[in-house]
Amino acid sequence: MGLAVKPTFDLDTRHGLPADLRELLLRYPRDVWTGHRNLGPTARFWLQRHDMFRELGGALDEALGQQREQVIDLGQFRVWFVPRLNFFLTQLDEHHRIEDTHYFPVFQLADARLAHGFDLLEGDHEVIHRDLQAVAETAGRFLQETNLAGGKPGDTARRASEAYSDASERLLRRLVRHQEDEEDLIIPMILDRSEPGLGI
Ligand SMILES: [Fe+2]
Ligand SMILES: [Fe+2]
Repeated sequence: MGLAVKPTFDLDTRHGLPADLRELLLRYPRDVWTGHRNLGPTARFWLQRHDMFRELGGALDEALGQQREQVIDLGQFRVWFVPRLNFFLTQLDEHHRIEDTHYFPVFQLADARLAHGFDLLEGDHEVIHRDLQAVAETAGRFLQETNLAGGKPGDTARRASEAYSDASERLLRRLVRHQEDEEDLIIPMILDRSEPGLGI
């Protein structure tokens, strides 16, 4: 049995796209994206959505920290947190559904050599979908227990808060890795072929 280290595509351990999917990225590195004439309206909108998910994910995490440090009133926290968490979860789920059903099939047809990259990204979506469910479940319990505990959180409320915090941290970490790799695969394709050329 050989001892060669196999490349891993695991969302938790990989550091980027595998080498065979990075060829176009070498020709179109990130620092040329913004000013490139083939970066069309669809790509710009899509990158903005990714930025929004990263920013909102960070803001939700920050709000949880404030709630745990008790620097924010519980009522104020709920008013801010609940609609934004719901928005984040539903929009992210929808974003992945549109990528899976609408965009990935177009890209897969456009370049057979990169087709397996979209299987990798779809696999990420499945992992992240389970993370979204875990975040929704643990958030529900966290909010319920925190509310019951009022100003003096006991062990149950603290455990519920930690379970939510763990689930949320896992989701955000995986989302950041996924989005970066997705951008590294798709934006160079768009710059190379243009949006009309790809039919998007
Ligand atoms: Fe995605
Ligand atoms: Fe995406």
